[in-house]
Amino acid sequence: MNKVSFILILGFASLATACKSGVNPQTKSTTATNNLLETRYKMLLDYPVDSMSMPRSMNIKTLEIRKVPSRDWTSGFFAGNLWQLYRLTGDSKYKEQAQKWTPFSKKESVNSNSHDVGFKVFCSFGEALKVENKKDYEAVIVKGAETLCTRFNPKVGSIRSWDFNKEIWDYPVIIDNMMNLELLFEASKISGNPKYRDVAVKHANTTLKNQFREDNSCYHVIDYNPNTGEVRKKTTLQGYNDDSVWARGQAWAVYGFTMSYRYTKDPAYLKQAEGTAKFFMTNKNLPEDGIPYWDFKDPSIPNAARDVSAAMVMASALYELYGYTQNNSYLAFADKLMASVQTDKYVLDTKIKAPFLFDHSTGNWPKHDEIDEPIIYADYYFLEALIKVQRLKGSK
Ligand code: GLY
Repeated sequence: MNKVSFILILGFASLATACKSGVNPQTKSTTATNNLLETRYKMLLDYPVDSMSMPRSMNIKTLEIRKVPSRDWTSGFFAGNLWQLYRLTGDSKYKEQAQKWTPFSKKESVNSNSHDVGFKVFCSFGEALKVENKKDYEAVIVKGAETLCTRFNPKVGSIRSWDFNKEIWDYPVIIDNMMNLELLFEASKISGNPKYRDVAVKHANTTLKNQFREDNSCYHVIDYNPNTGEVRKKTTLQGYNDDSVWARGQAWAVYGFTMSYRYTKDPAYLKQAEGTAKFFMTNKNLPEDGIPYWDFKDPSIPNAARDVSAAMVMASALYELYGYTQNNSYLAFADKLMASVQTDKYVLDTKIKAPFLFDHSTGNWPKHDEIDEPIIYADYYFLEALIKVQRLKGSK
């Protein structure tokens, strides 16, 4: 796609969504906002390729960029953003940078220290594979799946998420872990080996059984007894408290079960994705523009920090969920989220030279870490949602 048609489609998508959802974008104009985004996109090209550090987030007060090594769970997103920008714009400069950045997370395909091998490997090599059909990329994905499976305990029926806090947890499994299943499903498709898919299905079924409340909201962490598979604790690390509702966790759940439905067509997965989506979309604490507070039960609402990343994970998930259900409320809500973020309020000020698109995400509130600032995965899921909506609207 050339640049002109990209801008036209982006403009059309924003305009159509704004009208349909009744949102009044708080922006100068759609074109002006698109120009802001175009300016921001190009800043990703200016970030120097450095094999030791990837831009994860930015302290919005000091403007210092937090850079991370490949072992960080976010290490696949920068390459992923560049691949997605190439798909959106057709500009080969993004592809050239993406090719340089993709190997950054390669060694994580053999790192079994956490479940995040899925995020690290699939958001980089998985995106690369959508553009270039290379055996090398496939091999890294299958290797990563093999590594992820070493963390599966058949007694629990889940992949262990983390190895830290051993004095508190015996076998912690977090809702975010659903996102890593895409690596496993794809690895089975690539290799023909059903093992990875079987592990993914068992993990999803255990999550379905234990991670959700009656109202379809989910707990962040379930701690299991690794010898019996019994649930020891339902708790949190990144939410306000054990009984609260961490916004990004809900988004991971909707995305994770929608994606698992894509590969299995299990109606129970679709039902859970729809239940949790409804909880999110109809919550009394959701602001008018749809961008959630970081936790739906933070008592300081309406003064709590927002989380654009949760909104973008939801937008991407809801476009896919709409495709399976034809439920217009999902399409309208995702459109509303996309219209809301493409405004002056959320697009990172173009005077700030940094490889990020949006401000106002919240990483880890209980640790006072990355509060209300640009975080790379918000951009990743925005770009993914943009690709999905273009496909949906292009196919109508
Ligand atoms: N562990 C991924 C997240 O912070 O959402």
